[in-house]
Amino acid sequence: MTEPAPEPFLYVVVCAAGIAAGVDELIAAAQGRGWRVGVIATPVAMGGFFDTAAVEARTGRSIRSAWRTPGDPRPFPPPDAVVVAPATFNTVNKWAAGTADTLALATLCESYGLGVPVAVLPCVGGALAAHPAYQESLARLRGMGVRFGEPYTAEPAADGTRPDFGWARALDLLEPFPAG
Ligand SMILES: Cc1cc2nc3c(=O)[nH]c(=O)nc-3n(C[C@H](O)[C@H](O)[C@H](O)COP(=O)(O)O)c2cc1C
Repeated sequence: MTEPAPEPFLYVVVCAAGIAAGVDELIAAAQGRGWRVGVIATPVAMGGFFDTAAVEARTGRSIRSAWRTPGDPRPFPPPDAVVVAPATFNTVNKWAAGTADTLALATLCESYGLGVPVAVLPCVGGALAAHPAYQESLARLRGMGVRFGEPYTAEPAADGTRPDFGWARALDLLEPFPAG
């Protein structure tokens, strides 16, 4: 009898935006849709932006942020898809420029060559988003096939509440998966 294929593996790249505190919601939603999840966080995001212990408990895997040492096995299987949520101004610009000086950025840069679908939920304030470099980065990444959610600024409404980030949008952007 042949073994059933394992569930597809999703990399969730987490950047250092305040909204990252809610990333557990994305991981739970992904698992609910049949993904196995491994989290790769930027070094800044590891410094208190989200509950790393809760994420490791939910995924059953250590969060990756630094490179493994050369003799160590790869901790995660290769990705079937990649989600970046939240994506910062900094990471979007460095990714578009081809900078790979963190594991998160190197993973994103490599995803193009791997040909896997990549979905991004930016969280970038209006003042930063107006920078021409950011607009050029979005255009370049879109041209590479990267799928972007609607802009989200995290700016509070008049009543002081923040709109829902809509974490599951990232998973919707990957549909249909596998493409067919
Ligand atoms: C509390 C806090 C919230 C932040 N929120 C955002 C944000 O929503 N979007 C953003 O682009 N940068 C935000 N930043 C700035 C980033 O953390 C900073 O640019 C950092 O270098 C990003 O690193 P990374 O892209 O490697 O994660 C925030 C910083 C702090 C201290």
